[in-house]
Formats: sequence, structure tokens, C-alpha cells
Amino acid sequence: MKKVYVGMSADLVHPGHLNIINVARETGEVTVGLLTDKAIASYKRLPYMTYEQRKIVVENIKGVSHVIPQHTLDYVPNLLELKPDYVVHGDDWKEGVQKPVRQRVIDTLAQWGGKLIDVPYTEGISSTHINKNLKEIGTTPEIRMKRLKRLIDSKNIVRMLEVHSGLTGLICENLTVNHDGKNLEFDGMWSSSLTDSTLSGKPDTESVDITSRLRTINTILECTTKPMIFDGDTGGIPEHFIYTVRTLERLGVSSIIIEDKIGLKRNSLLGSDVKQFQDSIENFSLKISAGKKAQVTNDFMIIARIESLICGNDVNDALTRAHRYVEAGADGIMIHSNKKTGDDIKEFCLEFRKENSSTPIIAVPTTYNHIKEDTLAEWGVNVVIYANHMLRSAYPAMMNTAKTILENQRSLETDEQCMSIKEILHLIPEF
Ligand code: SPV
Ligand code: MG
Repeated sequence: MKKVYVGMSADLVHPGHLNIINVARETGEVTVGLLTDKAIASYKRLPYMTYEQRKIVVENIKGVSHVIPQHTLDYVPNLLELKPDYVVHGDDWKEGVQKPVRQRVIDTLAQWGGKLIDVPYTEGISSTHINKNLKEIGTTPEIRMKRLKRLIDSKNIVRMLEVHSGLTGLICENLTVNHDGKNLEFDGMWSSSLTDSTLSGKPDTESVDITSRLRTINTILECTTKPMIFDGDTGGIPEHFIYTVRTLERLGVSSIIIEDKIGLKRNSLLGSDVKQFQDSIENFSLKISAGKKAQVTNDFMIIARIESLICGNDVNDALTRAHRYVEAGADGIMIHSNKKTGDDIKEFCLEFRKENSSTPIIAVPTTYNHIKEDTLAEWGVNVVIYANHMLRSAYPAMMNTAKTILENQRSLETDEQCMSIKEILHLIPEF
């Protein structure tokens, strides 16, 4: 019996997959190399189903004898191990991001006389099409919540965008940019206290109560499927914090970040104009532990945000706190700074990683925004948050339009700055 290898993601199995497996099983004994979350996330959106769920489906397809993980988009490691006589794949990979992957398959198989069989692509059915339908299927709080951990486990760096409304949620949800053959998109959303407060016409001092913030979040969750991290400011007193944790968890928010400040909380980027005070390690650890005890699932993440570098303390203080907060149960560490160089963040990350290789690090590069994602990842950062850019860009645009109307005493001159009525009417399609 000939050995046949089929690599696939099999997130939602459709007739195109079955067609490929049929061709493969007519050729020999079929081993499916099921791409892991990590392998898939290296070139496209993280799959809807987990590896284990996808494995159960594929194992039960007629004609599949074995299912093994394929850890990279590159087939070569598995091919060298199995030395199959044939690889069967849809011919759609002759173009696009997978083209070089296909060539490597051909070259590797040639080493032992193996052959690639390209099966004609099943018209009308594609993963992209199914992805679109997935958005219509929607999500559940549980699936959404778990997604952040899956993303952290699968991606070099997880990219979060500030959202403050259903509309900004949809930008985060739907925007893709093709860059060097890869489809880039945001992985999830950041609910910022700065932009939620500003949008309410209030200062960023915990003046917008949790109930109001939850209303905004609900609107966003209704029209999106990507995971969300909630900016919980100081988290309030532990007796109140536990309720916030439970409510967010129930809604399907993936994580809350709380910062170790006390007193009237001010925005961290205000600089040295206002003195800001940091909580004691003991107090803040108690808050973290109380939150961890309150959560119902294992998936919700409580992330401790360290404000040492904002409050005039040094990297050593931040490191001591980071290790203590992890001991108290923190699922991640956000390190913040308002310096422009990024040097303090780099030092913190490299030092922290010497002792702790696994706890996720979250960075918010607003002032040090010349640093690119790959560099942050090299330092050991797992999640990058673009914390305020949607609102900061919307406001000047709106001001400009309002001014133009006043100056001209009519709106004709705003037409160039505005999307057309036709465009806005069709921006949100009806179901
Ligand atoms: C926010 O977005 O509200 C934050 C990040 O907490 S920062 O504004 O940089 O403090
Ligand atoms: Mg904030």
C-alpha cells in the first residue's frame, strides 16, 4: 500500500476537503497532517475550532487512517519523517502565500521519488467564504473568552486594538490588510478607560462607573466575535473587584487588567505633572488573589499592570512586583511606561524572562511607538495593545468637519471629508 500525506487545517470541513481525501484514499493509506493552531496562525486567522476538536472531526472521515500534528506551515519536517509516496493537496496553493510551501513539498518528495498530486480546487467553496459565514454564526461567551489564551499560545505576538463602540468593534473585527502575501488583522479588542471616559466627556479618573462601561462592552460584544481585554483601572476595592470579574467572565470578556495605583487614579501618560501613588505589594496581591478566587472558569485572565515606571520607581521595583504578583495568581503582567525610548520596557522584559519564561507580558507602546511588533516579541512581549488610536484619530476628523460647516455656513464643503450617504447606509448590512 502506498503512503499518502494530506496537510490540512480542517476548521470547517466542506466537500472540497472530502474530495481531496477521496483522491488520497484511492491512492493509498492516508495520513492527515493536521495543522496546529500555531501553524495556522502563522499565515492566517486562528481557526474557530481548537486542534483537539478538529482532530476528532478528521479522524472520523472515511478513508483517514492516521492524524498527526503538523506544527508548521512548512510540510518538510513531517515529510522527512514519514517519507510518503504522495502528497495530495488542492491546486489553489499554486498561487499566493502557500506557493513556496508547495515548491518545498515537490523538492522534498523528489528525494525519494515521491510525487505531489494537485487536486482541482472545488469551485464555490473556500475557507475564506466559510470564514465569512462563521461571523454570521457568531460566537458564544465561552468560545470568545478562551480565544485570548489560544492566541497567546499560537502567535508570536497578539495584536489588540482599542475599541469604544460597535462601529470601532467592527473595524477591529473585519479589517484585513495584505502585506507580503500574508493577511494581517487585529486579534482582539482593548476596552480602554481613557477612551471610554473621554467619549463620556469625563476625565480618566475612574469617573465612568462599571455599569456604564459594561453597556458599551455589551454593544461591542453584540456585533463582534474577537476576544476583548478590559481596562479595569485599579479594580476598586477587592470586595467590589470580585463582582467585576464575575460579570466580565459571564459576558465572555477574556481578561481584565488592573493597575497597582491607589488614591485618585490618573492617566499614566500625564507625565510628571501629577504625582501618582502606587499600592503596596501586599494590598495589590490580595486584590489579585481575591479576583482569582472569584472567577468561575480557568480561562479568564487577571493581568497585573505595574506602574512603577510611571510612579517614579525603577525597573528593579517593577521586577520585584512582577514576580510577587505572579505568585499571587496573576495570569499576565502588563508593564507600562511613559518614556519615549522603550529602553526601560526592554530592560524589564529581558530581566523578567530570565526568571519567568511563560507568564505573558503585555505592552502598550503609546509613547515608544517607533518600536515594531517583531522587536517587542524578541524582548518577550506576548500581547501588544494599541490603546487609544481609534478615538484619537476620530476626534480631529470630527472637529475638522464641524469647523468646516461653521466656516461655510453650509455642509457642501464637508463632502470631501465625509463618506457618502450611500456608503454609510450600506456600511452595516442587514441580515
Ligand atoms: C487606557 O487606554 O485607558 C490605558 C492605557 O489605561 S494608558 O492610557 O496608556 O494609561
Ligand atoms: Mg486606562
